[in-house]
Amino acid sequence: MAERPRILIFDSGMGGLTVARALSQQMPQADLIYAADNAAFPYGAWNESELITRIVMVLGRLIETAKPDVAVIACNTASTIALAELRAAYKLPFVGTVPAIKPAAAQTKTGVIGVLATPGTVSREYTHSLIHTFAFHCKVLLHGAPRLAEMAERKLKGHAVDPDELREEIAPVFRKREGKQTDVVVLGCTHYPLLTEDMNKVVPWSVTWIDPAPAIARRTADVVEETRLNGATDAPPSGTVILTSARGSASETLTAYASMGFPQHVVVDLPV
Ligand code: DGL
Repeated sequence: MAERPRILIFDSGMGGLTVARALSQQMPQADLIYAADNAAFPYGAWNESELITRIVMVLGRLIETAKPDVAVIACNTASTIALAELRAAYKLPFVGTVPAIKPAAAQTKTGVIGVLATPGTVSREYTHSLIHTFAFHCKVLLHGAPRLAEMAERKLKGHAVDPDELREEIAPVFRKREGKQTDVVVLGCTHYPLLTEDMNKVVPWSVTWIDPAPAIARRTADVVEETRLNGATDAPPSGTVILTSARGSASETLTAYASMGFPQHVVVDLPV
């Protein structure tokens, strides 16, 4: 039987599960191992240089544990600062996730696009350069939402979303400019697609949300095709989530991971 590619999907928390979902549709033959740096969640508020050091160290441990063929950094906050360092530090191929500003600029009819992301991602040079390169002709409403990623995690753990809090978190990307209003909003954090249904209930007008997960899954499939599989046999089975703190082992957290296709877990203790 042909070997199955082993893919490590990494995020600070549960947001990368939206990418895992797309990957399991795109590549049902792949072994998927999910890793969450829950000891350090949320990444959105971290200082840049400390976060780069943390991500490179954590990925080192995760690669040793999961022995993946390819690693998907399913986190905009991490990808926009640490991809180059990760590629320099480790030999395997990395697929990153950065705000989908290019497709948003191609899809907008009004010329007004919103970008919802973490405070970290909106402050990155990388994000500003995507805007200058691909959306220079658009009005871009860039908003660093302080609580949205945590709201998404609470929802996945079975708690109700507070509509007023949600409305307040997304309000800055809904503006009118010379009579034109936002028509496309980039979900620039992998947690946010978990909240699209809830957001649709509180938006002042309807918009197209851009979830980058299907594009990342297609890119990963291409990368896997070009990659020689390492054939390691001593790795956790497909459907395992690796946590960096046992604090994430509370039953509602494990139930949330299981509901998204990751019923087993292991803890690699990496305190902050
Ligand atoms: N899911 C992450 C992202 O795509 C960030 C969440 C966080 O840790 O703040 O940016």
